[in-house]
Amino acid sequence: MITIINGPNLNLLGTREPDIYGHDTLDDINAWLTKRFEGARSFGDSAFDGVLLEFFQSNCEGEIIDKLQEAGFKPGMRGIVINPGAYAHYSIAIRDAIAALPVPVIEVHLSNIHSREDFRHRSVTAPVCRGIISGLGKEGYALAIESLLK
Ligand code: DQA
Repeated sequence: MITIINGPNLNLLGTREPDIYGHDTLDDINAWLTKRFEGARSFGDSAFDGVLLEFFQSNCEGEIIDKLQEAGFKPGMRGIVINPGAYAHYSIAIRDAIAALPVPVIEVHLSNIHSREDFRHRSVTAPVCRGIISGLGKEGYALAIESLLK
């Protein structure tokens, strides 16, 4: 299994600043990912129960940390894809939670955080992630999942 976590305000995708984040809702993106990876199996996963992708969204830092801990120690977990939203820029608690996990975590941002305001240029969570994809829209989630499946 791979868990995809989306942080604050990403539940508003579709209507939230569409010039930056596009017109897809989070449900649209999750349905697109489910279809795209239909038939993909979690190879080498003895606990594989047929559900490859699990989706989670929260606006609350503590709930994101609880989900990271729950998913990160689950048997058969391949890895976690996280778009921490604005928490990427300042949440040491989420950074520490990621650093504590035995599974790889990939950070995704829909927009290119380096081409936006200065305060978005720094991610405190990225250094403890396996990699970061920023600016490729929903494709970023798919590329992160593909890399975890390799
Ligand atoms: C974001 C970028 C963040 O700076 C912002 O706070 C978000 C969305 C992105 O996906 O581009 O909420 O993570």
